[in-house]
Amino acid sequence: MATAREPATIPSSPPTPAPVRAPVPGAGIRIDGVSLTFHGTRTVHALDAIDLDIRPREVVALIGPNGCGKSTLLRVIGGLIAPDSGTVVLDGNPVTGPDPRVGLVFQEPRLLAWRSAERNVRFPMDLAGWPEDRQAARAEDLLGLVGLREFAKAKPSTLSGGTRQRVSIARALALEPGVLLLDEPFSALDALTRERFNAELLRLWERTGTTIVLVTHSIPEAVFLADRVVVLSPRPGRVVAEVPVDLPRPRRVTDLDSAFVTSVAADVRRHLVDTTDDAIAMAEARIAVPPGTPPDAPRRHADTEPGTPAWFDPFRPEDEP
Ligand SMILES: Nc1ncnc2c1ncn2[C@@H]1O[C@H](COP(=O)(O)OP(=O)(O)O)[C@@H](O)[C@H]1O
Ligand SMILES: [Mg+2]
Repeated sequence: MATAREPATIPSSPPTPAPVRAPVPGAGIRIDGVSLTFHGTRTVHALDAIDLDIRPREVVALIGPNGCGKSTLLRVIGGLIAPDSGTVVLDGNPVTGPDPRVGLVFQEPRLLAWRSAERNVRFPMDLAGWPEDRQAARAEDLLGLVGLREFAKAKPSTLSGGTRQRVSIARALALEPGVLLLDEPFSALDALTRERFNAELLRLWERTGTTIVLVTHSIPEAVFLADRVVVLSPRPGRVVAEVPVDLPRPRRVTDLDSAFVTSVAADVRRHLVDTTDDAIAMAEARIAVPPGTPPDAPRRHADTEPGTPAWFDPFRPEDEP
């Protein structure tokens, strides 16, 4: 069961300011037997015995159908939810709560509307009790890193969606995390802007060396960015395949069109074949079969069953995946 956490480990106003640290090299992540079920109005088995070993500096892309538990897994890694069983260990230390070693970026930038870009980037440093001058220096570095120095004083409402997302990436890097968790960070961007952001993310990674776990729905994006693409099954999320991407770095946007990326993408897609949204619809539609129906009874078409999702394809033969 997802339970309340122990107090956050983000320090509030330490008595003496911490010294400025060198950039933290990427942290290794070991995920061991992580399972989690939500108990709300309905019980949702979200994650099932996830094992994953992520090397320091590795870029791992998570891909899987809607609702398979990708965001939940990121939240567990970030210490925002406790798993029912299993552990997450970062560089040898168990994650027991929200952790300054981890930076999180969500699909929507989630910036504070009343704070400027710079003040948004400084927000985690404020919470951590950093002195003003250290905050200002770090914020300037980070805004430079994401190419936004001239937007330091701008309010989020005056910035484009892509620029706001850059601010949130800078904010996620504020406390020099060893791990950056990105949950579909580019899905709101148009295709060309998205490609540019993919390239920018790789440049950022080259400069920071942060370990990255990225959720995306785009197979080419996953292959282009990652050292390894991890394919999850429909709920409960399980690891069904790990596809290595042996494409040399630094990578360039033109690699997206290369035969190599296309062939790895085809491999990833092959593992996703049985995990399409249609397959989930089929599985959920079958749940609508009345209890007590003998397993060998001729099954009625799911579109005649109560509770069938509207988007179920009634023309598909019943037993075709
Ligand atoms: N806080 C929550 N309470 C109850 N159910 C949740 C909660 N968060 C997520 N879920 C459910 O868990 C499943 C996995 O969700 P999520 O991790 O967001 O999937 P994904 O990111 O792969 O689309 C979904 O069925 C979702 O509705
Ligand atoms: Mg999600």
